[in-house]
Amino acid sequence: MLITLCCGFASCNKDENVLVMATNAAFPPYEYLEGDKFVGIDVEIAQAIADKLGMELVIEDMEFNSIISYVNANDNAFGMAGMTVTEDRKKTVDFTTSYAKGIQSVIVKADSDIKSIDDLAGKKIGVQLSTTGDIYATDDFGTERVSQYSKGNEAVAALLGGDIDCVIIDNEPAKAFVAANKGLKILETEYAVEDYAAAISKENKQLQEDFNKALKELKDSGKVAEIIEKYIPSEATDKK
Ligand code: ARG
Repeated sequence: MLITLCCGFASCNKDENVLVMATNAAFPPYEYLEGDKFVGIDVEIAQAIADKLGMELVIEDMEFNSIISYVNANDNAFGMAGMTVTEDRKKTVDFTTSYAKGIQSVIVKADSDIKSIDDLAGKKIGVQLSTTGDIYATDDFGTERVSQYSKGNEAVAALLGGDIDCVIIDNEPAKAFVAANKGLKILETEYAVEDYAAAISKENKQLQEDFNKALKELKDSGKVAEIIEKYIPSEATDKK
């Protein structure tokens, strides 16, 4: 019997040598498009993991709320999208070890009367559909106060247009959206602190194990910190 070991990872011996990253590439600096190229922290970490597994990385861009069902329907797929580990999501999907911290922040107009989270009651809140910002805001303030947008930048456009009073979204995309648009700011108070991890089907324990092993090697070698530093200069030390 001939056994070929290409890299020591079991996933590498699968017939299909393609690893699919299901994502929503409208979330800088984690995943976004530069021209027709996918770039960002998650994209680079995923590429480094695929390299370690000896697999070809293919990126599938989709709505954020389709990622978990895609992962559950496709072998060799994982979801990586600045996705927060939540108890509820853990019911339908497994998470890898975490690779970064996330913070839910609030974007307001520079002259807004919203000064802290306490001022959000009674305001119109914009979120990206099915994100933790959406889930927490709906819980805290009620569905009727929350407008859901397919992408974060659509919520930001609605804020600029005066349709809503604030946007609750992850802090790094918030910074990118504020930098790209005049007249906006981020509240100093954080709305929630969370962990980001990749989502893998509960049926796919081997991929989860290989992913975690490769991720650990990339953390230990400093590669993950280097990638984060490239996109978020001088903040890599705050990240896991
Ligand atoms: N961290 C938030 C969540 O998991 C938002 C993630 C949105 N990611 C994206 N690529 N659009 O719900």
